[in-house]
Formats: sequence, C-alpha cells, structure tokens
Amino acid sequence: MVREDFAKLPRHVAIIMDGNGRWAKKHKLNVAMGHRQGVETLREVIRHTDDLKIEALTIYAFSTENWNRSKEEVAALMQLILDFFKSEIDELDEKNVRILILGEKDVFPQKQREVLIEAERRTADNTGLTLNICLNYGGRAELVRAAKQITEDVQAGRLSLDSINEQTISDRLYTAGQPDVDLMIRTSGEMRLSNFLLYQCAYAEFLFPRVLWPDFTVQDYDEALLAYGGRERRFGKRLS
Ligand code: IPE
Ligand code: IPE
Ligand code: MG
Repeated sequence: MVREDFAKLPRHVAIIMDGNGRWAKKHKLNVAMGHRQGVETLREVIRHTDDLKIEALTIYAFSTENWNRSKEEVAALMQLILDFFKSEIDELDEKNVRILILGEKDVFPQKQREVLIEAERRTADNTGLTLNICLNYGGRAELVRAAKQITEDVQAGRLSLDSINEQTISDRLYTAGQPDVDLMIRTSGEMRLSNFLLYQCAYAEFLFPRVLWPDFTVQDYDEALLAYGGRERRFGKRLS
C-alpha cells in the first residue's frame, strides 16, 4: 500500500522485533540464522516506512538484558551489526535517512562502536526518516541517564527545580525532539514491553501480531498500520 491508501498514519512507529529464536528452532537452524533472516525483514520494513513517509521508526535490536545470552549468540549479533551497516548505510544515506543509536555505545567492541558512530555522523544532517536503532538499550537505563543529566543541570545552576516538567525529561531522552511513539508493534505474540521506550510509549497504541519477526511481511506491516488507523485515541478525554 502507498501513503494515500491510509486515512491516518502514525508519525512514530516502534517495533520490538521478536521471534528470531523461535523461527530458527522451527526451521531446525542455528539461532544466528534466525537473526540473519530477521535482518531481511528489517530491511523491507525500513524501506516501506520510508516509502510511506513516516517520520520516525524505532527498532529494538539489542537490549541491555540481551548481554545475558550465550557468548555465541551475542557474537553472532555483534557480527550482524557490522554486516547490517556495511550493506545498508549507502542506501540509507542516499534515501536521506537519519540514523540515531539509542543506548550506551561505550560497551560495544571497538569495531562496532566505530561503525555506529560513523553511521550517526554520516547521516546526521539528513532530513528524511529518522531511524532509531536501539542497541544496548534499556528504558530504565535511559531514564536514569536523564535523571543524572537533570541533576547536573540543576547543580550547575542551568536549571531550576521549579521549571522541571515532563518536557524536561523528554528533552533528555535519546529521542529528544521526536514525537512520542504512536504505534508500538511487537511480533511473535509476546505481550510485554521488555524495557522498551517506557516514557515514550505512555499513550502509544499497541499491536501484538502473532507472526515471528523473520516471517513478518510488508503486508503484515500494512495491516498493522490499518489497524492503527481504526483505533480511537482518547488521551484521557471523552470524545462524544
Ligand atoms: C529477537 O528475537 C531479537 C533479539 C532479541 C536480538 P529473539 O532472539 O528474542 O527470538 P525468540 O524470542 O527467542 O523467539
Ligand atoms: C526484547 O526481546 C529485545 C529485542 C527484541 C531486541 P527479548 O526476546 O529479549 O525479550 P524477553 O526476554 O522475551 O522479554
Ligand atoms: Mg525474544
């Protein structure tokens, strides 16, 4: 479907790409193959989001808790990070996509860190789709980081206690300046946030398609976007 086919589209879509492990198991493959297949889905989803001229897409690629997986699986995911940027960065930059990494980059191996910093630097002035890639991301860690920044600003006299409001926090999140999440999609049938965008999802609409992430198609994505269009968002008000 194209943009004109939708009566209403979200400005900001967030996706928990879940189900790679189960997909691999189902196909009697190594878990790394599940993640690799998941990247194929991601490619299509980014392309479609860009074609639809949606403003922002946030994808959960690696959580602060995912370090607790086996050494082999973490290594496979680290390799995939390198492969993804190597194969995609030219096209993304050409399409005017701005890439932001959400999460602390310092803990990544040097190669990965360099690739992530370079992707952000190279696309920093792009004005098309904002692609937020959550790597070593945790919603709670993000809020702790914001709290520390606010404390620093207060201590330095740049900010007064009285002036602190919800915007003060929004401005110190990785997503500063972006609209709140309108639509949150988690594939694989799991219905939980797993520490994803806790503050930004306050009034998001949630969809939990049962399909595993490597099997998620552009048609499934369109269906989710259509379902979003049918939701009545009330934000606490009585509409009729
Ligand atoms: C999500 O797929 C991708 C990452 C966490 C990196 P999973 O690997 O969590 O897939 P399941 O939940 O085991 O099926
Ligand atoms: C959330 O999925 C993280 C990513 C998709 C990157 P998980 O599969 O790690 O979450 P839980 O453990 O099922 O809650
Ligand atoms: Mg999972």
